[in-house]
Amino acid sequence: MNTSTCIAMSTMKPCCRMLVSCRRSLIFGFQFPKCNHTILNNLSKSQCQLRHNRAICGCSDRVLGFRSAIGASGNGFCGSGSDWGESRGFRGGCVVDRGGGRGALGVVSVASDVRHHSTSVEGHVNEKGFERIYVQGGLNVKPLVIEKVERGGDVGNEKVEEEEPKVGVNGANVNVDKSKSFNGENILTREREVSEIEKEAWDLLRGAVVDYCGNPVGTVAASDPADKLPLNYDQVFIRDFVPSALAFLLNGEGDIVKNFLLHTLQLQSWEKTVDCHSPGQGLMPASFKVRTVPLEGRNGEFEDVLDPDFGESAIGRVAPVDSGLWWIILLRAYGRITGDYTLQERVDVQTGIRLILKLCLTDGFDMFPTLLVTDGSCMIDRRMGIHGHPLEIQALFYSALRSSREMLTVNDATKNLVAAINNRLSALSFHIREYYWVDMKKINEIYRYKTEEYSTDAINKFNIYPDQIPYWLVDWIPETGGYLIGNLQPAHMDFRFFTLGNIWSIISSLGTPKQNDSILHLMEDKWDDLVADMPLKICYPALEYEEWRIITGSDPKNTPWSYHNGGSWPTLLWQFTLACIKMRRPELARKAVALAEKRLSVDRWPEYYDTRHGRFIGKQSRLFQTWTVAGFLTSKMLLEKPEMASMLFWEEDFELLENCVCSLDKSSRKKCSRFAARSQLVG
Ligand code: GLC
Repeated sequence: MNTSTCIAMSTMKPCCRMLVSCRRSLIFGFQFPKCNHTILNNLSKSQCQLRHNRAICGCSDRVLGFRSAIGASGNGFCGSGSDWGESRGFRGGCVVDRGGGRGALGVVSVASDVRHHSTSVEGHVNEKGFERIYVQGGLNVKPLVIEKVERGGDVGNEKVEEEEPKVGVNGANVNVDKSKSFNGENILTREREVSEIEKEAWDLLRGAVVDYCGNPVGTVAASDPADKLPLNYDQVFIRDFVPSALAFLLNGEGDIVKNFLLHTLQLQSWEKTVDCHSPGQGLMPASFKVRTVPLEGRNGEFEDVLDPDFGESAIGRVAPVDSGLWWIILLRAYGRITGDYTLQERVDVQTGIRLILKLCLTDGFDMFPTLLVTDGSCMIDRRMGIHGHPLEIQALFYSALRSSREMLTVNDATKNLVAAINNRLSALSFHIREYYWVDMKKINEIYRYKTEEYSTDAINKFNIYPDQIPYWLVDWIPETGGYLIGNLQPAHMDFRFFTLGNIWSIISSLGTPKQNDSILHLMEDKWDDLVADMPLKICYPALEYEEWRIITGSDPKNTPWSYHNGGSWPTLLWQFTLACIKMRRPELARKAVALAEKRLSVDRWPEYYDTRHGRFIGKQSRLFQTWTVAGFLTSKMLLEKPEMASMLFWEEDFELLENCVCSLDKSSRKKCSRFAARSQLVG
């Protein structure tokens, strides 16, 4: 084939800057009624046509010729063959103004077919490569087409046929319960009059919605009209949008979520650099901002541009490892709640999933199946001593792997990836269940650990010195109940209780059924420490004195019992609610929701609360924080319709437990430790 890829910017009213593919006729699968004829104006008519409101552009191989045909405004882009590399970053022909490395003009939609402009990247999993994914050498647009299409169908064909549930790989079931549908009987109807507080919350949530080219694409992090210095709280954060998305989905409003998923997908392959270093291709931004900027050379005309932040502007330059994981988790939720599975089946969406997974599953120096990350790579996005293998990332990673396994189309091209996912799922759950779990019995074992054991069958595998057991824990750990510790590294166990990680271990079944039950039991037992006056503590206990100075770097925002350092975050409520419903303890969630309901509106929906019992609105807390509002609404709706909650969590997957790839058996010199552990863990 000699069709080249051609991308053009269009001007629209309100003007959207977008790239139009010549081979993919439908941008994101949407039609953009406002984005039509002007596209044509920007393109050579012999090369581009509009059909049925779809911008279609066919280019010849003469790239440079096409480029100049677009004109001096620089609003066009056309790549072909080896010229792609040269066109990198949309400089000199299309997206301009990358001044200062930031504020690059946004790309709404990109070319789908880069088949002929690519270098191949091969993943490596268990000595078998992933399917070959063709990507462009460093180009900041999304590599959208893989060598083989998902179902042997026409790549460009947006109409996706209903598929049979997908086949098992590694003996584990993949995909899919398609029985729930928006059009079916499971629509969440509002059966009762909502309370005044809920009405206020809905107004605030709707007021936080951000439009891009006339379509809703997300919600800002906070919208306090009195805040004169919003920093980046006027941006759409990926993680913050999740509760907003669920509130909308549970209320039967799927469009904003679909738009969000597709627009962030396009940002995934943005050219991102921090001091000339480019992080991996699959990275999702922490946040993005919609900017309306004057259109160059057009008096009085404006355009919307998307401006992502991959951490290059974030305080501390932290990479948002959790963004891609949340994106995958939300994609699954969208499918399950709306019944619209065509979104996850799209080629570009499938590629997006694979790129995220590729980043996460790439081999490194690791000895552990857990993801190795820097401090501040998740909700806790400032230094809090969670670098290494923090539980929160592992629980989200596990959830994203389980989501991906359900969503990935299984064919010859993906079967190795799916096998890698299954292997990782089983190794990860074993590792967390075995080594992160603490209860009275386990702490007593650690207390009596021998150290410096050199052998493959050491009991104290990570060489933990018993003196590490903190004083507070000795008194705190209840007789019954337990939890997963915050982090595990050689000679280091971080015994702090991190709420989000523990809750997501319950939701995703990363913990065993018994462990999940015990975690909730502990949360109930330690209600005064973890919930008290405002649900829920982000972690317990706070770092104080010298520990605070060294570990946080003397961070004035993270002083003891404030913000990430033992502050109380109402947004954790929806996730707690989900966990409680899963564990058949909705009354616990109701109790927490009732506490929050008493104060959130009166206190103007704070981002977080301070003090040991969460009595004060946080020192530097934003007001009208969207995920506080959305978390409250989502909790309410989940409690009202627990059957919707069941679409968002995962039960234990017993097949995964059978899946050990270490090839050690009972007769070998070295034994597979999982066989021994399995019987006590499954309970
Ligand atoms: C803070 C939080 C982070 C959140 C962001 C926007 O940085 O630590 O988790 O995403 O604010 O609300």
